[in-house]
Amino acid sequence: MITILRTVAEVRSWRDGLPRDEKLGFVPTMGALHAGHMSLMALAREQAGTVIASIFVNPLQFGANEDLSKYPRPIEKDLALLEAAGVDAVFLPPVHELYPEDASTFVTEEAVSAPLCGAVRPGHFRGVTTVVLKLFNIVRPDIAVFGQKDAQQCLVIERMVRDLNLPVEIVRGPIVREADGLALSSRNIYLAPEDRQAAPAIFASLQAAQRAFENGERNAAKLAEIGRSSLAAEPRIAVQYWDVRHPQSLEAIETIGPEGAIFAVAAHLGNTRLIDNLVVG
Ligand code: PAJ
Repeated sequence: MITILRTVAEVRSWRDGLPRDEKLGFVPTMGALHAGHMSLMALAREQAGTVIASIFVNPLQFGANEDLSKYPRPIEKDLALLEAAGVDAVFLPPVHELYPEDASTFVTEEAVSAPLCGAVRPGHFRGVTTVVLKLFNIVRPDIAVFGQKDAQQCLVIERMVRDLNLPVEIVRGPIVREADGLALSSRNIYLAPEDRQAAPAIFASLQAAQRAFENGERNAAKLAEIGRSSLAAEPRIAVQYWDVRHPQSLEAIETIGPEGAIFAVAAHLGNTRLIDNLVVG
């Protein structure tokens, strides 16, 4: 049986009872679990003797006009998936357990969190770093697994871990996609059928730019233009950004050098916002 933990004190005493010579792997999530999340559970299972997941829809990382109240919360289904995957424990805190009403301490990373999603979702990464540091302090994992689907989130967390000397190893899992290329996301269920049909154009635009890169194109602006014009052919998709950036610093680049690049896209289909990315070089 999976152990369900709802308070910080319960997690601490569960953690204190674990064998000292085994690693603890941690997979933080906001629930509405899909095969992308479950691939991270499997990765944690491979690398650690004990695995704990968390499900917490973190209000601090949602903007005022975002989908916090609408965010899917199929908790019974999630628990069944975690149990079937052999996850040992799950932390399911209520909001007041993590945020006292007068909480006034926050973590901000100020470089890699600035562009891309940081520019269009002010405060989002401050919410992510704050909750992830809190979860790390509560769970004290040896290893924590994050998905490359949220590539900027991975970079922000890796930077926080380095800058604040957190004793945790960050492991990245590859993006899990549907057969037609659409990256799995808890938000895909919001898509109207016509939008779901159009959505694979997002990954197709990344692949169009990747083909140009493989054929020798190294000019970042030209590659971004190829991606944008590929997506422009799909009228249901409104591009928020389609950018070529340095794969570690996320700084803008003119020419792709030996370190390669990340192609990153965010787009709206109706009211649903989807992101995707692809690393080249
Ligand atoms: P959530 O969106 O639930 O994602 C949890 C983890 O699953 C993240 O590391 C995310 O990158 C990964 N993931 C999502 N879709 C994926 C896919 N298609 N393939 C592989 N991995 C995928 O990201 C968050 O929650 C939150 O910001 C969190 C880190 C939990 C902090 O609140």
